[in-house]
Amino acid sequence: MEEQRKKRIYSGIQPSGIITLGNYFGAVKNWVELQEDYDCLFCIVDMHALTVRQVPADLRKNSLSLVAMYLACGLDPEKNIIYIQSHVPAHAELNWILNTFTYMGELNRMTQFKEKSQRHAENINAGLFTYPCLMASDILLYQTDLVPVGEDQRQHIELTRDLAVRFNNIYGDVFKVPEGFIPKAGARIMSLQEPTKKMSKSAEDANSYISMLDDPRNIVNKIKRAVTDSEAVVRFDPENKPGISNLMNIYSCITGKDHSAIEAEFASQGYGAFKSTVGEALAESVSAIQVKYNQLMNDKGYLEKLISENADKAAYIASKTLSKVKKKVGFLPK
Ligand code: AMP
Ligand code: TRP
Repeated sequence: MEEQRKKRIYSGIQPSGIITLGNYFGAVKNWVELQEDYDCLFCIVDMHALTVRQVPADLRKNSLSLVAMYLACGLDPEKNIIYIQSHVPAHAELNWILNTFTYMGELNRMTQFKEKSQRHAENINAGLFTYPCLMASDILLYQTDLVPVGEDQRQHIELTRDLAVRFNNIYGDVFKVPEGFIPKAGARIMSLQEPTKKMSKSAEDANSYISMLDDPRNIVNKIKRAVTDSEAVVRFDPENKPGISNLMNIYSCITGKDHSAIEAEFASQGYGAFKSTVGEALAESVSAIQVKYNQLMNDKGYLEKLISENADKAAYIASKTLSKVKKKVGFLPK
């Protein structure tokens, strides 16, 4: 009897630096939980990273390092297809076609574009503008069912769905219309210094984010220095107490405890005790990941072989969707 196909998951991270706690709790940690029940592809989206100017040697280094980080966080290289976006040319090809189905007005509305064009006012390139079309191509090439991402990607997923529906309405059922999958607890980890902004690896103040490669002692210190408020009560209230609520979210992601359990745990304690418990717990789980990461980075040959084989697997799946699309839009067969 033919085995029923598992539902497919697709997600990716830009190799634009070492990933942060936000990427871990908002994305990778959830992927690790989903990998058992789904057929998964996890991409290193180096083509997206190019929308902001990169130092070539760093981009290469960060791309391989992200492969090691995916594995160190617990993604199984046997079960999942972990690969580099630029190794599969189908992404760029579908991207072009989808560009011609996307309206300027839709792209103009994208919050990430607005934010990034403010931050990189000297380089507002066309790639930054059409970034969501490339992301839609990533997802749609693989007939994806679910896309696990942090809250900041919701708008891009919506656009991907709109494009899939638009294309299908013209040409018949070509693309699966994907759903976003946004976690509750880690969907939006905030900056430690400005807790109303999201934690980002491109922030200038290194105290505002925790990198997955930060020294564990440094992690404890960064949590100690995190901006809070003067109420001195550990209570979840993102609007009035964004700093404390963020630390509660982080603690909840590590321990699985919900907000009321955390409030009870620290009911009679001040922020000092709360921060050191969160810091120590975090340092412990991150350092376990770092041990595995360092082992993997000592075997670059293994990582390179893995991504090369996986690029072939991904390209095979992508080629099926791409040929269908090319036929539908009227490209002459070779
Ligand atoms: P990026 O670093 O922009 O490539 O993001 C990769 C993944 O991490 C995406 O799924 C994002 O939604 C997620 N992510 C990035 N920053 C955060 C954050 N501060 N909190 C939660 N998730 C995040
Ligand atoms: N745009 C995503 C981000 O910045 C990264 C990404 C690119 C992605 N392609 C994707 C995420 C496909 C999920 C699926 O976080």
